[in-house]
Amino acid sequence: MQTVHALDPLRNAVAGLRAAGPVALVPTMGALHDGHLTLVREARRHAASVVVSIFVNPLQFGANEDLDAYPRQMERDSRLLEAEGVDLLWAPTAQAMYPPGFASTISVTGVSEGLCGTARPGHFDGVATVVCKLFNQVMPDVALFGEKDWQQLSVIRRMARDLDLTRPAANAILGVPTVREADGLAMSSRNAYLTPQQRAKAVALPTAMRRAIAQIEAGADVPSSLARLKSDVLEGGFGSLDYAELREADDLGELHAVITKPMRLLVAARIGTTRLIDNMAVKPAQAPEAA
Ligand code: PAF
Repeated sequence: MQTVHALDPLRNAVAGLRAAGPVALVPTMGALHDGHLTLVREARRHAASVVVSIFVNPLQFGANEDLDAYPRQMERDSRLLEAEGVDLLWAPTAQAMYPPGFASTISVTGVSEGLCGTARPGHFDGVATVVCKLFNQVMPDVALFGEKDWQQLSVIRRMARDLDLTRPAANAILGVPTVREADGLAMSSRNAYLTPQQRAKAVALPTAMRRAIAQIEAGADVPSSLARLKSDVLEGGFGSLDYAELREADDLGELHAVITKPMRLLVAARIGTTRLIDNMAVKPAQAPEAA
């Protein structure tokens, strides 16, 4: 695996890979776990070469967030990617990504509003800006993201459609299902912040979500199912919830009742100082049988 830290060597290396066929990009902020490695394995199924980027993007962290504390494990990450047969690691310096005078922002309205957009103002501008740059730098044929960050994936797809991106095109931005620990907790680099006691309690989040989904799919009232979810999560040991909402899966349109289109239950909750997010599919109501 080749590792590059600056744009010119990146472009040369990608040109070499492109000669062998389609190139896939897996953008990450490092602190890799099995969820990331699943993206890498999936990327291999779609392309001849796999490029992984590791960049802890300061633009997507708010002033009171965990930028400084965010785990940085470049040597370990590099070994993991090498073992997965990744072709190229793009690990730009902050200077290479945001040279002095950098003054541009991509802002995607609509899907970026509400949910994490409310709790983390400016976050999705930071994500869209860095992902657009990563796409322009690597020009991949396909890019893969985890579905755990469902709103992020929706923002990135909207950006690709709106800006007529072709490398990758919006339909080549692939979401990969969330990888979970044995007890159901979604894998996240932020799980590393949890104490053993918090980690044991964190399972309350997916458990409460599954219960709410079973109720909603069985026809229960949505607001009461969400209220029950919130109390289950708080009783399970979380300190607060930023949101627990049922939304249209595609455009994240607000919903207060079950509809026939695919839906998503999205939740963000805090345990100690750690904010965890998760989302799960909710099946549409059965269409009434034709008479
Ligand atoms: O999901 C992440 O790890 C980050 O938000 C991303 C997409 C790599 C952009 O920094």
